[in-house]
Amino acid sequence: MKHSIGIVTIAVALFTTGACNNASQNSKTTNTKDSLTRDSAAACSNYLNKKSFEDTVDGKPTDLYVLKNSSGACAAITNYGGRIVSLIVPDKNGKPTDVAVGFKTLKEYEGPGDAYYGALVGRVGNRIAKGKFSLDGKTYTLFINNGPNSLHGGKKGFQAVVWDAVQPNDTTLTLSYISKDNEEGYPGNLTVHVTYMLGMDNSLKINYTATTDKKTVVNLTNHTYFNLNGEGSGTILNHLVQINADKYTPVDATLIPTGKLDPVVGTPFDFTKPTAIGARIDTVGNIQMKNAGGYDHNFVLNNGGAALHQAAEVTGDQSGIIMDVLTTEPGLQFYIGNFMSGKYQFKSGAADNYRTAFCMETQHFPDAPNQKTFPSIVLEPGQQYNTTTVYKFGVKK
Ligand code: GAL
Repeated sequence: MKHSIGIVTIAVALFTTGACNNASQNSKTTNTKDSLTRDSAAACSNYLNKKSFEDTVDGKPTDLYVLKNSSGACAAITNYGGRIVSLIVPDKNGKPTDVAVGFKTLKEYEGPGDAYYGALVGRVGNRIAKGKFSLDGKTYTLFINNGPNSLHGGKKGFQAVVWDAVQPNDTTLTLSYISKDNEEGYPGNLTVHVTYMLGMDNSLKINYTATTDKKTVVNLTNHTYFNLNGEGSGTILNHLVQINADKYTPVDATLIPTGKLDPVVGTPFDFTKPTAIGARIDTVGNIQMKNAGGYDHNFVLNNGGAALHQAAEVTGDQSGIIMDVLTTEPGLQFYIGNFMSGKYQFKSGAADNYRTAFCMETQHFPDAPNQKTFPSIVLEPGQQYNTTTVYKFGVKK
């Protein structure tokens, strides 16, 4: 009963807003595109129960927000950790396809099965060696939560806090969070705003800004796990991936970069031409594959670190869905779900099986605060952190 009330609630919300009004107005001249648009909006409400996200965590209200356009895409995002719960785009036959894996309820995101699914990651995404770094001679100590290192902001990173949410229209959601001085051991009160924008071209643009009142370090990213054939459709090893990176940052056995920028040419890390993810996954004797248990590496983007540029393109082998990743960031962590366990259930009912989703985490390089030759992630008072990443969806022609 509770479930069906929730579905009705979200369906009502969807069907009283602009994109759906457009769809019904256009229905007089029904054509395939219009019906697909309606299907897609309906698909957003299919298995998502808004009520399952309405709660109070740390005294702050949580909810589920739906962005949608009139080109057949919609995204459901909760302000708990800024998580993309669902991202629906049309496949090559126009079928609405949920390309972002996620859970049905807020509780599951708070539980042990969560592996940063769909989350905003910070204050510093990726690893910091031994959970220590120094600024102006002062050493800061972070929570160790990944072998000997600190990962993705520490014990309670940005993925597990409640963000203030403002949704000014159907296609925009702005989330804000103030990370207090010394929160998780990081210096400075950091004011963060993250805006998700769904474009008419089926692109999801994420803009991150931050300011601080003390010198600090910041490296924000989004940790959505994609399966371009649709959540629950099995392995991602046959997806084709192309990454515009001639170099990558090799890591030690604890996944901390060695500091070198190694050429990808002649290695399983060469994705300069479209290649199936699984094609070289079992390359015998490759120490990097062994260290990370598969791809879980930062790629050094050609042309990275300035204007928005094309970082990668991925194609779903069954759906024909193409995802272009554009970013202003210099790096891209390509992670292929090597730690997915199969113990937990996604919203479609499918298990979170090994390598059934992948992440493209745009970012500065791992362990940047301790690696003098890597681009800096230091933010000073008076400066503005400002990065943008776009995940743009289309289909193979
Ligand atoms: C990735 C990281 C992986 C793993 C994953 C979460 O960003 O590179 O090693 O920790 O997050 O399970």
